[in-house]
Amino acid sequence: MTSGAVESSSADGVRAFDGLATEWSRGMGLRVPLVNAPMGGVAGGRFAAAVTAAGGLGMIGMGSAGSAQALQRELRELGDVRGPFGIGVVDWVVGAEPELLAAAVAAAPALISVSFGQDLSWVQRVREAGIRTATQVYTVDDARRAEDAGIDVVVARGAEGGGHGAPEMATLPLLDAVVGAVSVPVLAAGGIGSPASLAGVLAAGADGAWVGTCLAACSESLLADGARRAMVAAEGTDTMLTRVFDVGMEWPWPTRFPARVLRNEFANRWTGREQRLSDDEQAKQALAAAMSADDPRIAPVDAGEAVGMVARVEPVGAAIENLCAGAARLLEGRTRRR
Ligand SMILES: Cc1cc2nc3c(=O)[nH]c(=O)nc-3n(C[C@H](O)[C@H](O)[C@H](O)COP(=O)(O)O)c2cc1C
Repeated sequence: MTSGAVESSSADGVRAFDGLATEWSRGMGLRVPLVNAPMGGVAGGRFAAAVTAAGGLGMIGMGSAGSAQALQRELRELGDVRGPFGIGVVDWVVGAEPELLAAAVAAAPALISVSFGQDLSWVQRVREAGIRTATQVYTVDDARRAEDAGIDVVVARGAEGGGHGAPEMATLPLLDAVVGAVSVPVLAAGGIGSPASLAGVLAAGADGAWVGTCLAACSESLLADGARRAMVAAEGTDTMLTRVFDVGMEWPWPTRFPARVLRNEFANRWTGREQRLSDDEQAKQALAAAMSADDPRIAPVDAGEAVGMVARVEPVGAAIENLCAGAARLLEGRTRRR
């Protein structure tokens, strides 16, 4: 039984977990302090709309293969989303196709994130359009630089997170340090995949959680079935950090940002032999073919250490309800004990 003190129902019957709300989440018009990571190839318009419908901030992700055209397609999939949504893009992709950021701004979302870059001049341009800005940070220095550039919210992203990121610190020590160092709101990211981990980062001072892995296999995601099944089957110990998929696909990811993926044949074979791989046309062709064929033994499946908590394919709304109801109960319990 959940307590009325931590939950209430809005007119449309969706529960608002009052005990979880933060000043930042209220200011963004959210019912729960939860943002889905803008996962390229996973978080499309239908996925983002489902997160927003569940009370969080639904983000459309444009990853390595992102483009203005792909963004337009996913924006159509948002449908008549009732609530705030956001768009997340990758710095080097925008560098190659500036129209992608222009299209994101033109869509007038509540939040735009650009991650994985050094140049933060985009922050002021996006803010001038009346749109809030976010970026992922991995150290206190990164966070201070983003704050100095005028960022609205920083995402403290720990090394246990899925997909690309700088593996500098684990989520809790990083969150602790960043919350103490900057005055802008801080979202926690990396390894948040259970009610306890959501409650933990909120209790540690996060203004919200930015979650990827734990929602990636949900039914509304763009993930192909083979990758989805691989995520459900994986344990928390089945991930590794590697650059081999970026090398194999000739994607210009900065070396600071390896990807956390499910360990598979290709990653085991080539990690540590990146130079050999870059010269091996046959291996690169086999990788591209496996990606088209959705073969997770060879193709990359981005996933963080929270993948062990992904037990089933379920709608985004059910996953968020479970996370938030459990976190609200845990935090309410702590309040009572004090
Ligand atoms: C499948 C997947 C795809 C991702 N794609 C992107 C992306 O395109 N852009 C981005 O900024 N971050 C991307 N990320 C990283 C997330 O923004 C975030 O750092 C990470 O999901 C947080 O850790 P968690 O996966 O443990 O929740 C991706 C993560 C995953 C799991």
